[in-house]
Amino acid sequence: MALFAWGPLSKTSIEKSPPKFHTDFKKLRAVNIPLLEKLIETYGTCAILAKDSDLVVGSLRFYPKILFPEGSMIGFCLQQEPPYGPSESTAAREFPSLKNIQDKTLKVHCMMAGSSQQKKNPYKRKGIGTRMARELICWAQEHGWESIEATAYEEVEIMYANFGAAGRSFWEKLGFGLVKTEIEHELRGELLEKMQEQVIAKGLAAEDARNKYTMRLDLT
Ligand SMILES: CC(C)(COP(=O)(O)OP(=O)(O)OC[C@H]1O[C@@H](n2cnc3c(N)ncnc32)[C@H](O)[C@@H]1OP(=O)(O)O)[C@@H](O)C(=O)NCCC(=O)NCCS
Repeated sequence: MALFAWGPLSKTSIEKSPPKFHTDFKKLRAVNIPLLEKLIETYGTCAILAKDSDLVVGSLRFYPKILFPEGSMIGFCLQQEPPYGPSESTAAREFPSLKNIQDKTLKVHCMMAGSSQQKKNPYKRKGIGTRMARELICWAQEHGWESIEATAYEEVEIMYANFGAAGRSFWEKLGFGLVKTEIEHELRGELLEKMQEQVIAKGLAAEDARNKYTMRLDLT
């Protein structure tokens, strides 16, 4: 199980708690591993990884949309405890097989190129995120999924640095189109303030910082 924000990960670091990590790493692993195993058994995989020789330098995680009935993906962040991360009961849920799913849509949960916790990140803006997303599109087409959705925000630096998501342009370049605009209620505090500063600097209104876009690519 990769705690990717502390990457790039090697064969040895992938099994260890990151330095100054305040959450119980063993407890996270105990919850995450059965969940990942069940997802992989049921759907074949749930992540695309990018490698630079033997280092893992990028990850894009995705799940069937059906697993999120209320639309929110809270509860599936592998780096956090509940409610943002999975609980013991998450893996005990019923995961229907693809042939029993009516809405064959995959949802991108999060992605990262390099690491958000290291001082230097030589892996960002080198096309790694785009390549992982292209791999996901090919994999999804080959395995019978009919569409892919991803959440996007306004195109500002602080979002690309912190969110595990991308701006609309990232997805539009891959052929995704906008299908829904909502308000992001999870944004607050200093992060929201900085986001507002950056959207205003781009000539947008402060409230645009909370714009949450659903981008979709139809594969059929
Ligand atoms: C989202 C992310 C994966 C994008 O991956 P990437 O490999 O850096 O992106 P790409 O090089 O493929 O960029 C593709 C397009 O996205 C857009 N883009 C990417 N980074 C951008 C940035 N910082 N600012 C504005 N646009 C950006 C551009 O349109 C870019 O095309 P261009 O470079 O031709 O202009 C990366 O920014 C990332 O890792 N973010 C999350 C970091 C994080 O801290 N997550 C923690 C949560 S757990």
